Amino acid sequence: MEIVLSGIRPTGHLHLGNYFGALRNFTKMQHEHRCFFFIADLHALTTHPKSADFHDNVRNVLAEYLAAGLDPDVATIYVQSDVPEIAELYVLLNMLAYQGELERTASFKEKVRKQADNVNAGLLTYPVLMAADILIHRAGKVPVGKDQEQHLEMTRTFARRFNNLYGSEVFPEPAAFNFGGELIKIPGLDGSGKMGKSEGNGIFLIDDEKTVARKVMRAVTDSGPAHPHSEMSAPVRNIFTVLEVVASPDTVAHFRAQHDAGVIRYGDLKKQLAADIWRTIAPIHARIAEIKSDRDYLSRVTLHGAAKARESAQATLKEVKKAIGFKAF
Ligand code: TYM
Repeated sequence: MEIVLSGIRPTGHLHLGNYFGALRNFTKMQHEHRCFFFIADLHALTTHPKSADFHDNVRNVLAEYLAAGLDPDVATIYVQSDVPEIAELYVLLNMLAYQGELERTASFKEKVRKQADNVNAGLLTYPVLMAADILIHRAGKVPVGKDQEQHLEMTRTFARRFNNLYGSEVFPEPAAFNFGGELIKIPGLDGSGKMGKSEGNGIFLIDDEKTVARKVMRAVTDSGPAHPHSEMSAPVRNIFTVLEVVASPDTVAHFRAQHDAGVIRYGDLKKQLAADIWRTIAPIHARIAEIKSDRDYLSRVTLHGAAKARESAQATLKEVKKAIGFKAF
């Protein structure tokens, strides 16, 4: 049985990118593997969220995880800060992470550009904390989107470095993966890059049918294929990328053929996309509000999750400390 670990920062509601990048097929996967799903609230602190919003954001992600079908009796669902062993491993791994490699990380360089007034040490060592999240349970598989690939590579480096330095085999080298095959990047429908919370282009699991339709109908396209076999423009390719994850292969093939023949009507394509997105998220959407309002249930889930996660984390930390040479008097 493989150990699988997936994490999401509580900076807003879950969108289609989170769902297909990090959660795809988890309802089945949680029964087939030992799965850990957590809310990376410590990571969220790197961007200084308002204290008044902080807890509510954690609650949103938790409710949306559960509404999406994660079963707390099967998988281990927890909040990162409820497991102090992660912070302890983070300190230990920081001794093995070098300034140069941290400064060269793509996500760090991007943050330096985006929040030049807040380049804190937590941003620099973000990949180390992420490695601690993964290695604390000795996870072998980590469902993530394409944007996290480099962080997984760094986790493997830190794991290998630890094992070599201390002559141990405490850590396996985890692989990034997506149950649908290749790692994916769900694009925004605004003709730009990826779908994201901060990009303002998200289609969220909490969006209702009308909102989904409105967002999809606004998607950027082009003036139509100039002639048969025209190459697809980037914004239209984005629409097809999203269609591919929500629609049947027949539907995708139908619209591809229409594009290829130069007769596609983007209005029809968008209507189909909106319908398929809504079909995907409707059952999740329907459960979110009720779960979010059940504070007793959320409290039980997090307490139970933290206990299970800490048990696993403590076992790893014990071996880590032994390998390093800590000894009791
Ligand atoms: P975060 O919170 O930005 O996103 C959570 C997960 O969703 C994926 N994702 C996407 N996948 C495909 N297309 C998109 N447009 C898209 N947008 C987001 C992300 O790749 C991610 O898998 N550092 C992580 C959180 C984290 C973590 C971990 C993940 C902390 N510790 C340990 C895995 C293991 C992050 O910021 O993801």
